[in-house]
Amino acid sequence: MIDSSEFRRVMGHFPTGVAVVTTRRHDGSPCGLTVNAFCSVSLTPPLVLVCVEHGADSHACIVDSGAFAVNVLEETHGETISRRFATWNLEDKFAGIAFRSEKTASPVLDAALAWIDCRVTETVRAGDHTIFLGEVLAAETLEGRPLVYYRGGYGRFTP
Ligand SMILES: Cc1cc2nc3c(=O)[nH]c(=O)nc-3n(C[C@H](O)[C@H](O)[C@H](O)COP(=O)(O)O)c2cc1C
Repeated sequence: MIDSSEFRRVMGHFPTGVAVVTTRRHDGSPCGLTVNAFCSVSLTPPLVLVCVEHGADSHACIVDSGAFAVNVLEETHGETISRRFATWNLEDKFAGIAFRSEKTASPVLDAALAWIDCRVTETVRAGDHTIFLGEVLAAETLEGRPLVYYRGGYGRFTP
């Protein structure tokens, strides 16, 4: 079997966008993490998936709330937001970040390049992660350019 650091290194050669997946805790406080394991799954019905590590704080939040929003990050503020939401045990990841709710209660970031608001339809245990399948209830795009993640570093997309 391939060693996990080698697996991570090889997978890093697949360039991705970066997103913050958000949801709410029981008390209504916002919760979220940085992900790049996100993709579209089905057009009819519209489904997406995100993969979240079992140990992540946000994992339990998504299980409990049954909803999540995917906030695609743009190049200007995206790296700072990505690093913030990838930090373990940070007191308030949302401090100073403007957000609102759309169809579900999940926070939609004002700084997102695109957002997709979902209700969880299925969860699949997959190794040390859970695949959350979400039915898309609302989505929107804004002007801007995407943040890109490649070989462990952040970059920009130039067409
Ligand atoms: C670019 C990037 C992509 C990431 N992608 C994922 C991912 O797809 N799934 C995941 O569970 N963690 C991913 N992480 C790690 C989480 O963001 C990190 O573990 C975070 O601290 C979890 O936060 P939480 O415990 O508050 O939920 C990624 C981190 C970075 C920097």
